[in-house]
Amino acid sequence: METPNFFRFCSLSICAGLVLLFTWSHFPSGPDLLDCTTNSAWCTSKNRFQSKQPSHLKNRHNNPARHRNHASDTPHHPLDPLTVQEINKIRTIISSHPIFSTSAGYALHSIELEEPEKPLVLKWKEGDPLFPRKASVVARVKGESHVLTVDLTTSEVTVHQTGPHSGYPTMTLEDMTTATWAPLADATFNRTIIERGVDLTDLACLPISLGWYGKTEENRRLIKVQCYSMKDTVNFYMRPIEGLTVLLDLDTKQVVEISDKGANIPIPTAANTDYRYAAQKQNQVIKLLKPISIEQPQGPSFTVEDDHLVKWANWEFHVKPDARAGVIVSRAKVRDPDTGELRDVMYKGFTSELFVPYMDPTDAWYFKTYMDAGEYGFGLQAMPLEPLNDCPRNAHYMDGVFAAADGTPYVRSNMVCIFESYAGDIGWRHTESPITGMEIREVRPKVTLVVRMAASVANYDYIVDWEFQTDGLIRIKVGLSGILMVKGTPYQNVNQVSGQESLYGTLLSENVIGVIHDHYITFHLDMDVDGFDNSFVKVNLQREQNSPSESPRKSFLKATRNVAKTEKDAQVKLKLYDPSEFHVINPSKKTRVGNPVGYKVVPGGTAASLLDLDDPPQKRGAFTNNQIWVTQYNRSEQWAGGLFVYQSQGEDTLAVWSNRDREIENKDIVVWYTLGFHHIPCQEDFPIMPTVSASFDLKPVNFFESNPILRTPPNVETDLPVCEAATAA
Ligand SMILES: *[C@@H]1O[C@H](CO)[C@@H](O)[C@H](O)[C@H]1NC(C)=O
Ligand SMILES: *[C@@H]1O[C@H](CO)[C@@H](O)[C@H](O)[C@H]1NC(C)=O
Repeated sequence: METPNFFRFCSLSICAGLVLLFTWSHFPSGPDLLDCTTNSAWCTSKNRFQSKQPSHLKNRHNNPARHRNHASDTPHHPLDPLTVQEINKIRTIISSHPIFSTSAGYALHSIELEEPEKPLVLKWKEGDPLFPRKASVVARVKGESHVLTVDLTTSEVTVHQTGPHSGYPTMTLEDMTTATWAPLADATFNRTIIERGVDLTDLACLPISLGWYGKTEENRRLIKVQCYSMKDTVNFYMRPIEGLTVLLDLDTKQVVEISDKGANIPIPTAANTDYRYAAQKQNQVIKLLKPISIEQPQGPSFTVEDDHLVKWANWEFHVKPDARAGVIVSRAKVRDPDTGELRDVMYKGFTSELFVPYMDPTDAWYFKTYMDAGEYGFGLQAMPLEPLNDCPRNAHYMDGVFAAADGTPYVRSNMVCIFESYAGDIGWRHTESPITGMEIREVRPKVTLVVRMAASVANYDYIVDWEFQTDGLIRIKVGLSGILMVKGTPYQNVNQVSGQESLYGTLLSENVIGVIHDHYITFHLDMDVDGFDNSFVKVNLQREQNSPSESPRKSFLKATRNVAKTEKDAQVKLKLYDPSEFHVINPSKKTRVGNPVGYKVVPGGTAASLLDLDDPPQKRGAFTNNQIWVTQYNRSEQWAGGLFVYQSQGEDTLAVWSNRDREIENKDIVVWYTLGFHHIPCQEDFPIMPTVSASFDLKPVNFFESNPILRTPPNVETDLPVCEAATAA
């Protein structure tokens, strides 16, 4: 091959993953970025780079963005992820197991901690010994999927399941990279690319999961590959070789079929597609702002103990990176200001699945209905965060430790960041009008703690934030940025398009269409409000009519509480003109005045799927048929699209589980919420999209006896020295 260029044949994110895979133990050490201290020179640019940690945080709070060696990590908490040493041990155990040792080849699609049973974890206290560590391993051997439990104490495989599944496990990074290379073994493919005017050395190809539509997608693992021209731009996504789709067998790497329906569609030009700062013409750079940053003169208020246990203000929770979910937040507890007691709020919360259907039914597009967690691994696609821009100066960074397809552990550094955020918002306030004669001005600033990760699933970037507030609220926010998946077209102006013709999107630039699509991000929220037995209550607001004899008013609103008895009662489609609040309560725990303690799910990002329920993608994405579901806790029901999502037919989704209609009143229950976005692209989304965000909240409702942050102090001038720019370097 002329000029073999590895990077050109795969998506950037996937290559970055692979490069890390082989270099995980050789990190350069980065500069220690430091918090300002209160001494006189505390804010010169010089001392920002000196290593002076507040002493109470030493050994507890790692320096930001530092590359760490994980070779000697040990678990401290029952939910701590598998360590490098543990993954190495599992790899050895697996390789000597009969099904693997006698087989020519196998691939490990996931190796993750098998969490101890929930009752055990609930009983565990800091300082207690850990339970025997176990791993759950998903492997493929000779065309069959295996799910195994490996006991790290006894070095034995204790559970081994195979069996018919309609779907396949999450792709390995190796699957994705080899798929992008494979078409080059086919002479027809090469010829087609050259006929389209693209030099083979300028090719960038993407591995695209193809869903399930019937017989063609059954009984073999398949993938579709589409390609782009990288000539004159890093933003190859804007230069599609439109209409060319290669169907590939993912196990044999054989080309099954090449479809070329785009021969007369030009490849859009590279002009104005580069988004890198260095590539912008320096005389055209627009400086809108002076530098801005948050100062913490006394250092941060949070600690991360033993790498995963976060303690901040009145909150305590466990955070771990996860190859499939991205980030898992567990055992979230908030301190009661009256009793001082840490009270349970949520046992476990994470991104369970994403569903991203594109709205173009034609040959090269109909199958684009991604499930990014179960097909690609949302966490596997999370890249290292960029200090100062992804996360502010005061951030703490956490690394992910994952396993490659042969079981070799590798580190994804700086995958998660944790930081305190002050956006100038107000926690609570009241100022008194002069007519009362009272001079009252009481205001409290709002500071929050954010746990962030960003996944770059090929072109798209998803920013996921878990934001904790001192008033007990948890805000779960998803931001969408990155690059659109676009379609090539002969059109250069909308005036060339005939009235009847559908573009399936918006003309964004000459020969470039941004295709309409949806994003659904479904969260698993195992709420344990003051204990695990909870109920789900819909508090429905309805108009009541008044007769003229009762009141001068004709109507008013009345709240009616409906406790969901079974799972079907808790299938919620949001309705603007029939609104409800959605409470998760503990029916056996009441406040002083007798209200059940609770947390409510406050919806946001409420786009709902409008696809036909019998459309194959919607069957697989049936977990988006409702915005809210509540299921009885079941350890096996974690992934809303099913354990094996790739090419699945939708027989193991949240919708199927919920239709079992199990009892959920005063039981251990799991709430599922789907954040939805409809996206009709617009020109501002070219060549890279400004972030669009939506969020939903988990908010205390009669959980505290009164405002939990009543007794917090306001800011005073002397606590906040003014930061002055250094006069000289
Ligand atoms: C297709 O082109 C690539 C890159 O030039 C080359 O390595 C490969 O051998 C070609 N395939 C065939 C079947 O000729
Ligand atoms: C738990 O979930 C699995 C997978 O959906 C299912 O097979 C099993 O029947 C469920 N158990 C109960 C008690 O619902």
